[in-house]
Amino acid sequence: RKKVTTHRLLEMKQNGEKISMLTAYDYSMASIIDKAGMDVILVGDSASNVMVGNATTLPMTVDQMIHHGKSVTNGVEKAMVVVDMPFGSYHASTQEAVTNAVRIMRETGADCLKLEGGVEIIDSVRAILATGIPIMGHLGLMPQSINKYGSYALRAKDSAEADKLISDAKLLEETGCCSVVLEKIPKELAKKVTEELNIPTIGIGAGPFVDGQVLVMHDMLGLNKGFSPKFLRRYANLYDVIIEAVQSYIEDVKSSDFPSADESY
Ligand code: KIV
Ligand code: NA
Repeated sequence: RKKVTTHRLLEMKQNGEKISMLTAYDYSMASIIDKAGMDVILVGDSASNVMVGNATTLPMTVDQMIHHGKSVTNGVEKAMVVVDMPFGSYHASTQEAVTNAVRIMRETGADCLKLEGGVEIIDSVRAILATGIPIMGHLGLMPQSINKYGSYALRAKDSAEADKLISDAKLLEETGCCSVVLEKIPKELAKKVTEELNIPTIGIGAGPFVDGQVLVMHDMLGLNKGFSPKFLRRYANLYDVIIEAVQSYIEDVKSSDFPSADESY
């Protein structure tokens, strides 16, 4: 297996080969996910939710994304590593966007950055791309805009928002983005965007007619008991596995079963 590049993602779309993408935030999990054969590992700002316990992604800072990003690249050999630019880090000016983007790339060794938004952030997208940094777009439900939406409900149900999403997707492609994440939108809209774009679309809650799928690691491994939206498929129940393992350890400590003679020096 060769290192996955932006060129390879495009080739996969052209060959009709689906792209697998999963989040990771730390060295140990990233190295396992990479060894398992994942195409793309996303250092998502969802770290705010699953690693820190915040209700939204807004508190994440550039320094925190760099901490997680470096932890992940330390464990990855083949997957393409994408790091989210956090809330507010690409909005004040194109200069500040470029400064933050360059810092994240330099200090993490990531392969690509992901930014939420279309026409509103296109100047920053263009300026960052001009440095040679690849960018993955992110449209539909954009968690950094949660205070604008008021809820994490399905986006682009009406034709005005759907039309804007299509034009934003085309604009991101024309500007030079290497792919675009589509979050929580109707499957027919995701299909239309996927057909109209040459760059790959990667969906989460966007149905099957996209070029790839992304999930949050903690959700798909069943580490969260509470979070079960319709789009989520759980591939393991690690919550129960961990509870059982930890309780066995507690029991063995309490009963002096652990450590045994063999486990002692
Ligand atoms: O932060 C994240 O995990 C994401 C994915 C849900 C696409 O942006
Ligand atoms: Na994100």
